[in-house]
Amino acid sequence: MELNILPLDEAALKAPPVDDFGFGNLFSNRMFTQNYTAGIGWHDARIGPYGPFELMPSTAVFHYAQEIFEGTKAYRRADGNINLFRPWENARRFNVSAQRMVMPTVDEEDHVAAIIKLIELENEWVPNVPGATLYIRPAMIATDPALGVHASKTYIHFIILSPVGAYFKEGFAPVPVYISDEYRRAVKGGTGNAKTGGNYAASLYVSEAVKAQGYSQVLWLDAIEGKYIEEVGAMNICFVYGNQIITPKLSGSILDGITRKSVLQMAPDLGYEISEETMNVNDMIADLKAGKITEVFGCGTAAVIAPVGKFGYKGEEYVINNNQAGPVSAHLFDELTGIQNGRLPDPYGWTYTIEVK
Ligand code: PLP
Ligand code: COI
Repeated sequence: MELNILPLDEAALKAPPVDDFGFGNLFSNRMFTQNYTAGIGWHDARIGPYGPFELMPSTAVFHYAQEIFEGTKAYRRADGNINLFRPWENARRFNVSAQRMVMPTVDEEDHVAAIIKLIELENEWVPNVPGATLYIRPAMIATDPALGVHASKTYIHFIILSPVGAYFKEGFAPVPVYISDEYRRAVKGGTGNAKTGGNYAASLYVSEAVKAQGYSQVLWLDAIEGKYIEEVGAMNICFVYGNQIITPKLSGSILDGITRKSVLQMAPDLGYEISEETMNVNDMIADLKAGKITEVFGCGTAAVIAPVGKFGYKGEEYVINNNQAGPVSAHLFDELTGIQNGRLPDPYGWTYTIEVK
């Protein structure tokens, strides 16, 4: 990939924030962009100023949502250098999503090289504050200016950077989660295992409705029988039974989360048993009532490890671990973030360090 670095207007440069990061509202000065044209392939790879695209109102993505995205993070190390966490896994999943949405795949090495170059140029935007990171958002959109329902022949692939704090306003405090008994998000054979905007659009109705009742997230059940636990809006879900961690199997309609995969790989080394199961929501509620479930937590790039403090389901409320973060969630949070930011050794080879010159 021939990557052009375009000049910036020095007078227009913003300084990185030092606190009050929030999540996803602030963006660095530069972005990566490349264009795809059927018959030509990817072209015009460049890093230039962060700014708007000029697109016709007829542009395909505005109408039929042919779109994919990813999320990964850059972490500031104590020595001042920067870690990426499993960026190649992320690039691979970007292509899995692209194939499902009939979009062109990207060269995974080029995609990661673009992230590394962008972070090198924007290294000051990686926060040096505990708990804050630089969220990396790659995306691809269909750009044909036409209303026929078919796969586009042109696309934009772009990567933007956003310094972020905790995803939830609760921080590491437990998150209240509503189990949707009526509405469904994704069905096996649909697009639930692709990271495409439509899945998130489909989730908004319920998440907005339950926000008014104090719930931060929605736990989705399978769309066919409405009884098997799938995942939460922005994270996978894990249930702790004493020393055992159980998470729903990849059903075809949930995201193959990189944090989930990392938890499953590291938990046995930390002394926990793990299993991936088909989980019936009624059995889970019974286990909660019987005190067999000692903790529940979500896991994801934005969410990290997020303890769940209570479930709302069919008008009842089920409190978990007295609405406190439990020791297993805290242990996993500490180990995972330790590997990510270089505070702990990385026995799995998950991190890639960018040296800040
Ligand atoms: N499930 C959904 C719907 C998500 O949006 C995310 C976030 O990316 C996850 C799960 C967790 O995936 P990962 O750990 O790869 O970030
Ligand atoms: C992520 O964790 O990267 C996500 O994509 C979650 C969310 C912000 C949609």
